[in-house]
Amino acid sequence: MCGIVGYVGNKKAVDILIDGLTSLEYRGYDSSGIAVNIDGKVELFKAAGKLQNLKNIVEKNYNEISKSTIGIGHIRWATHGAPTVENAHPHSCNCGKVAVVHNGIIENFKDLKERLEKNGCTFRSQTDTETIAHLVATKFGETHNLTEAVRLATREIEGAYALCVIHQDVPNTIVATRRNAPLVVGLGEGENFVASDVPALIQYTKKAMYLEDNQIVTLTPDSIKLIDIDNNKVEQKVETLPWEPVALSKMGYKHFMLKEIHEQPDVVRNVLSGKLRAIDENVVLKEVTLDKEKLKNLSRIQIVACGTSLHAAMVGKYIIEELCEIPVDVEPSSEYIYRKTITDKNTLVIGVSQSGETADTITAIRQAKSKGSHILIITNRPDSTMAREADSLVPVNAGIEVSVAATKSYTAQLISFYLIAIYMAEVKGMGDLSDLKHELIILPQKIEKVLAHKEDIQRYAKAFANSKDFIFIARGINYPTALEGALKLKEISYINATGYTAGELKHGPIAMLDESMPVLSILMSGKVYDKILSNSEEAKARNARMIALTDSMDDKLNELFDCIIRIPKISEILSPALAVVPLQLLAYYIAEFLGKDVDQPRNLAKSVTVE
Ligand code: M6R
Repeated sequence: MCGIVGYVGNKKAVDILIDGLTSLEYRGYDSSGIAVNIDGKVELFKAAGKLQNLKNIVEKNYNEISKSTIGIGHIRWATHGAPTVENAHPHSCNCGKVAVVHNGIIENFKDLKERLEKNGCTFRSQTDTETIAHLVATKFGETHNLTEAVRLATREIEGAYALCVIHQDVPNTIVATRRNAPLVVGLGEGENFVASDVPALIQYTKKAMYLEDNQIVTLTPDSIKLIDIDNNKVEQKVETLPWEPVALSKMGYKHFMLKEIHEQPDVVRNVLSGKLRAIDENVVLKEVTLDKEKLKNLSRIQIVACGTSLHAAMVGKYIIEELCEIPVDVEPSSEYIYRKTITDKNTLVIGVSQSGETADTITAIRQAKSKGSHILIITNRPDSTMAREADSLVPVNAGIEVSVAATKSYTAQLISFYLIAIYMAEVKGMGDLSDLKHELIILPQKIEKVLAHKEDIQRYAKAFANSKDFIFIARGINYPTALEGALKLKEISYINATGYTAGELKHGPIAMLDESMPVLSILMSGKVYDKILSNSEEAKARNARMIALTDSMDDKLNELFDCIIRIPKISEILSPALAVVPLQLLAYYIAEFLGKDVDQPRNLAKSVTVE
């Protein structure tokens, strides 16, 4: 939620800020702004709506704006106040000398605002962030030291924040700090950077330092000073970023989502690499640091996640229960944190998150950790907050995912669950899993076959693009696939899509069926195939428009279904990892046909850092 970027150095700051915001656009995109220093004066440029609107303003004023070699920028996902120009960041104080960009929520902003107003501060926006600008200005008035002003301000702020501050009277200096929101500093030669996330830095430097909670960094072109909230000097841990700038290019695809769907065969190979070496060798999972004796004695597993990661977790439950015979509960993190959860030392808690920054999941794992559970994190971002707090970290190696709709990270999470389950089953001596291992190794080729037939799915997409509603049905291990297919479709095309267990259809949803309603049955060979077939018959009898997604060559299907999406034969237990690919393509092509903003759907953000 919200992206921030800061630059101080010898180049035109505006170019770096706009590039940085472009690469952080996935974090929010309802308004944006920058603050630069033109001829010794802090100036703000802001726009409501997509980043392009800010780019247009910058273009018109480029000669002026490009004089500045320092600046901070922000792209917003609104929490307090509508996405208007007034509420767009940066925010300033009465005298206009301070500029602040902020990601997070200031929980005590009402109290702070009341106090600041009593002291003469005039607020121009409805945001919580503006309190920080006034607070820093007040503290600067007392200390004449920007770092100290920010430090003292953060002592009074409650809530989550990553923020960057500049002050007109302190040229060539950015002060940044964080608490429960990500912030990374990029180190250059004669220039330094700060941003919410690596994509904003990677084309300029690979040397980076992740800020920890309550650390305050002061950046000038030639120096970086790090202290904590109690004013103690902190040792700087500089690391080399593993990402390549090419990961952020569309590589000729029309959208990142399409590119990321096509990356899935390689993503599967990457996740398996070094862990599943041969079908007659045990899975190697050094990342799981839980003692093997403890693992054998686990009484239960709880998995917490949100959105697409939650669907991966639901598949994970099936796999672990099937292979390891350990009871698994799956719960949305946002529910888990508001009830009495029963966990202890014999409970393994798994957090699943593409970004590793989802606020609800962070809170859930912290809650579980405080009760003594071992925390295993499955994430695509080994540099994230969750990764840093994990007892066991299983990175999924999907590469940076730019499209807001998760695709390759989902597949990578699924493969991680297969590996974890096989590993645990082998530790517990649960029997031979060589067939599943063999299937995992050849899965990338099967995904490639599905991708090679994408034109068929594109054709079906056109035929169904004008549907107002869409139902996905499945049973067993593919019920989460139905949920994920529906989520993909609704989030990028805004069609009202719902996933049901096929057996539930007759308990209510069937009332909605008529000739205008598409029903997509996920009919994978296995123990529930015949059951779903019967449920599909029931839907057909209500005149629904029937689509099958199947690995079966059964001729009977031709009579029952209007369209059939065929995928290669696969075992039931592994089928979610293949069946999801055509559903991602279907959602993509429908949204693309409808002319939707596929990579940046309305109202969404890639990383949801507020509860
Ligand atoms: O980064 P996370 O995996 O924790 O994010 C969870 C959800 O916000 C995310 O999966 C969201 O549902 C995606 N937009 C799905 O495509």
